[in-house]
Amino acid sequence: MTQQLKATLTVDKNNKIGKVNERIYGSFIEHLGRAVYGGIYDPEHPEADEQGFRKDVINLVKELQVPIVRYPGGNMVSAYNWEDGVGPKENRPKRLELAWRTIETNEVGTNEFVDWAKKVNAEVMMAVNLGTRGIDAARNLIEYTNHPGGTYWSELRKSHGYEQPHHIKTWCLGNEMDGPWQVGHKTAYEYGRIAQETGKAMKLVDPSIELVACGSSNTGMPTFPEYEATVLDIAYDQVDYISLHQYYGNRTNDPANYLAKNMDMDHFIHTVTSTCDYIKAKHRSKKTIMLSFDEWNVWYHSNEADKEIEPWTVAPPQLEDVYNFEDALLVGSMLITLLNHADRVKMACMAQLVNVIAPIMTENKGRSWKQTIFYPYMHASVFGRGVAIHPILSSPKYDSKDFTDVPFIDSASVYNEETEELTIFLVNKHLEESITLQADVRSFEDYSLVEHIVLENDDLKAINTANEQKVAPHHNGESTLQDGVLDARLSKTSWNVIRLKK
Ligand code: AHR
Repeated sequence: MTQQLKATLTVDKNNKIGKVNERIYGSFIEHLGRAVYGGIYDPEHPEADEQGFRKDVINLVKELQVPIVRYPGGNMVSAYNWEDGVGPKENRPKRLELAWRTIETNEVGTNEFVDWAKKVNAEVMMAVNLGTRGIDAARNLIEYTNHPGGTYWSELRKSHGYEQPHHIKTWCLGNEMDGPWQVGHKTAYEYGRIAQETGKAMKLVDPSIELVACGSSNTGMPTFPEYEATVLDIAYDQVDYISLHQYYGNRTNDPANYLAKNMDMDHFIHTVTSTCDYIKAKHRSKKTIMLSFDEWNVWYHSNEADKEIEPWTVAPPQLEDVYNFEDALLVGSMLITLLNHADRVKMACMAQLVNVIAPIMTENKGRSWKQTIFYPYMHASVFGRGVAIHPILSSPKYDSKDFTDVPFIDSASVYNEETEELTIFLVNKHLEESITLQADVRSFEDYSLVEHIVLENDDLKAINTANEQKVAPHHNGESTLQDGVLDARLSKTSWNVIRLKK
């Protein structure tokens, strides 16, 4: 008989990391696979609205309370002509889409996407093409979207039926420009220069916007973190955020090692934060660059199937990862990592939102359903609003192939001062044992336990389908709260949401 494993946690309301910017619960829709066509847009679907958008998908996105959605790419944006996607649909050209080697029909473009975002109560984070294009296309696009009227591009928008400007606030200066796969890939110096000059022109059109510069595509890039340092050295005064992208997978079927991978994400955030602050010091600047983790998720299940896809078809089923239970656990841990960096990570986008490495899946003209990763994402987005509190955590640890001293327990706490609620998110990564948690929450006087939500499954490989939700949360977690001490049983391999309220 093994000894019961124990962890302790102190959550003190005065020990703040920082306000959680709700935009860390953002997501991403790229013109890729069936994200747009068959995903959010399917005019022949029985639940399509007057614009062809699927109402069933809109409702699922609303459940996630996604505050901001990045668009239109991704790799796709690096060879995209935004002008192809505006104006009468019958005049829009079909194009070869080079990033994913498909046919882009341009039935959906900037205006339709802005309309869709309003329907799901989200802001748009718009990316400009700094691969094949540059300053001119970007300044014209922002004149089209944000200028009130009286000029060529703003009047063109009005002639397309959009009298009022869209006021898009957040703009990405290209996408993953460090990656050799990118159309128009650039060295850090080349990219820094074009980001600086494009950003300058865009802010001349609309000084109220904020700009995200590309950082590294992942921690494994040979130019990481020098790319960030060089780009920021050139464009520091122009940009407001630096982007981070990271995907993980369990290719060797080593769950213990896989579930530890948010430690790499944590290290990534620390390194980029230090790089930003080094350039800040070098420039004697008062401005602090914030982090936009605008692509993060699990991505590996679909890699082999994607190699078989015929090029030059419209909206093929690309990057359709079917997520299992262990993926939901890692996603939960990644959300915890983002929350524990709430002072510097001010935006983040789960990549992506529908069909393409996504929490929501659909059939063309058919059903829609929640993947396993939907649940931790929804819980964090709905309950994780407020101030992030430093978790003073003591947890048993393990070593895995790539990591040492991995805490079995990951935890983040969010205190919502307005609603007087405290939510504690926890993952138990132990593959065989439950762990008992004792949490000191005495600083939350007169709080009582609302619920303990648990996502658990005996089968790490369990998946959800259109027919069956094998992985879904229940509300029967074992917790008690007495005299400011919370005792909870965290079952083996589980995602837990413990909610307290005054
Ligand atoms: O999200 C899928 C792809 O991953 C994006 O297009 C690209 O930016 C990243 O490499």
